[in-house]
Amino acid sequence: MPDTGIERILITEEEIARTVARLGDAITTCYAGIDRELVVIGLLRGSFVFMADLIRVIRLPLVVDFLSVSTYGDGTVSSGELRMTKDLEQSIEDRDVLLVEDIVDTGHTFSKVLGLMQARRPRSLKVCTFLDKPSRRTCEVAIDFCGITIPNEFVCGYGLDFAQRYRNLPYVGVLKTD
Ligand code: PRP
Repeated sequence: MPDTGIERILITEEEIARTVARLGDAITTCYAGIDRELVVIGLLRGSFVFMADLIRVIRLPLVVDFLSVSTYGDGTVSSGELRMTKDLEQSIEDRDVLLVEDIVDTGHTFSKVLGLMQARRPRSLKVCTFLDKPSRRTCEVAIDFCGITIPNEFVCGYGLDFAQRYRNLPYVGVLKTD
């Protein structure tokens, strides 16, 4: 293993590529025929790697924007608090919006962000997550496009961090617990 903090690989690069391609197809089909660019919004920082791959397999005109919110400290347990540290650059009123996350864990972040986005009156609002950890859910979120459902393990890589590290791993790994 190239990094000693990782216990094992949970999702390989090949599985990531297959998953992203499947999501790109589903999103392309869902929005086929829309009359204005799709607005794809990534929640920073975790989603940036997935966003970069995903937008390249969506075969539609689109624009991207980013929101920065934070719920975790530098540990493995969510603090439950949401801070918006960067707002969108553009209005989403009357636009078709796709919110993109790296992982839905408790659902707290997505449900709060969805509320904030809905208040801006988009024409439609759907959500896409690369990973879903439903066993940890405390806030229900309807996920429109879901990549891979994972068990309750602390994962990092492919954009996901532990104490800001490991985001650059090309696979998703399980962190050593000691
Ligand atoms: C992580 C992840 C999600 C959120 C999921 O973000 O990117 O946004 O936690 O957890 P939840 O469903 O329990 O709310 P984090 O706050 O760690 O910031 P990051 O995106 O910068 O890694």
